[in-house]
Amino acid sequence: MAKQTVLVTGAAGFIGSHVSQRLLAEGYRLVALDNFCEFYERSWKELNVRGIGGGEKFDVEEIDVTDGPAIDRLVSTTRPDAILHIAGMAGVRPSIEQPCYYARVNVEGTTQMLQAAVKHKVRRFIFASSSSVYGNLKRIPFREDEPVSEPISPYAASKRAGELICYTYWHLYRLPVFCLRFFTVYGPRLRPDLAIHKFTRLILEDKPIPFFGDGNTARDYTYVDDICDGILAALHRCDRYRIYNLGNHRPVKLCEMVAALEKAIGRPAVLDRKPMQPGDVEITCADISRAAAELDYRPKISLDEGLKRFVEWFAQYGHLYRFPGDAPAAKTVM
Ligand SMILES: NC(=O)c1ccc[n+]([C@@H]2O[C@H](COP(=O)([O-])OP(=O)(O)OC[C@H]3O[C@@H](n4cnc5c(N)ncnc54)[C@H](O)[C@@H]3O)[C@@H](O)[C@H]2O)c1
Repeated sequence: MAKQTVLVTGAAGFIGSHVSQRLLAEGYRLVALDNFCEFYERSWKELNVRGIGGGEKFDVEEIDVTDGPAIDRLVSTTRPDAILHIAGMAGVRPSIEQPCYYARVNVEGTTQMLQAAVKHKVRRFIFASSSSVYGNLKRIPFREDEPVSEPISPYAASKRAGELICYTYWHLYRLPVFCLRFFTVYGPRLRPDLAIHKFTRLILEDKPIPFFGDGNTARDYTYVDDICDGILAALHRCDRYRIYNLGNHRPVKLCEMVAALEKAIGRPAVLDRKPMQPGDVEITCADISRAAAELDYRPKISLDEGLKRFVEWFAQYGHLYRFPGDAPAAKTVM
């Protein structure tokens, strides 16, 4: 049977580039889209799509998801069977600085993609949502059927709004949509603003790491290959509106994560202690029983193994992923 065509938005980013390469490896026809936004270095995204550190290289259409006519043209000419809508403005703290832009990309952009999907009879739609929609929910682990009406950052609110507009398209047009709530994804090519990447860079440069709160905040870290397994399973099974947690079901305290990272790097971290940041939640922990039962989702990579893989990637390729003010590139020796 001929493999299907899948349109991936945000394909040049961290998760989008991994899932695009997985689709290519499995024989799908890939249509990739990204606007290479300035949230972090364009050059990093160009490296991502060149298959640095493994995976096939691929071409990306430089299009903004809020550009309705351009999206409509792309979907009408490429006729995808499914859309993986991964593009989005990520990050809690920057969303507090730019709430309107987050709403524009994450809500209006999602609506443009849904609109094009319906108009051109795309049969399945996967939306990258986030654990942040749970806010500071006290009942752990987080279940998909919890009421989630108290997001504590514009980012979280924009992702919840994205889920709601997805439901509307299922209700009105019977477009099957699975919303996947990702829990703190990490792995090679991790976004530079995320703790594991930032801390690794700083520890190797013998600089202090910003350590927010007392170290007891906890995250359910999930390795990117496990997330890709979940996304592909969702792609195969998407037949109605449904929400799934894709996490690890193992919250790890910030102080424990730093200790595991020190072990993976083989150097101690110097802590620059700071107060908790507004918008940050205290704990995330996914109940993954729905994803296990319905998507056969079984995360396999432990935090120790995932950090080892990340640190190995950083040692080999970190020197290519540079910031404009960085010292001349040199390969990290550990
Ligand atoms: N990384 C995580 O832990 C995590 C957790 C929960 C949810 N998510 C969601 O998963 C998705 C991917 O996250 P990521 O960590 O890979 O981030 P990322 O920033 O690396 O990837 C997002 C990609 O979307 C692109 N993009 C942004 N605005 C766009 C626009 N207007 N038009 C077209 N492309 C645009 C960016 O250029 C980028 O390449 C995001 O929607 C994010 O909110 C990520």
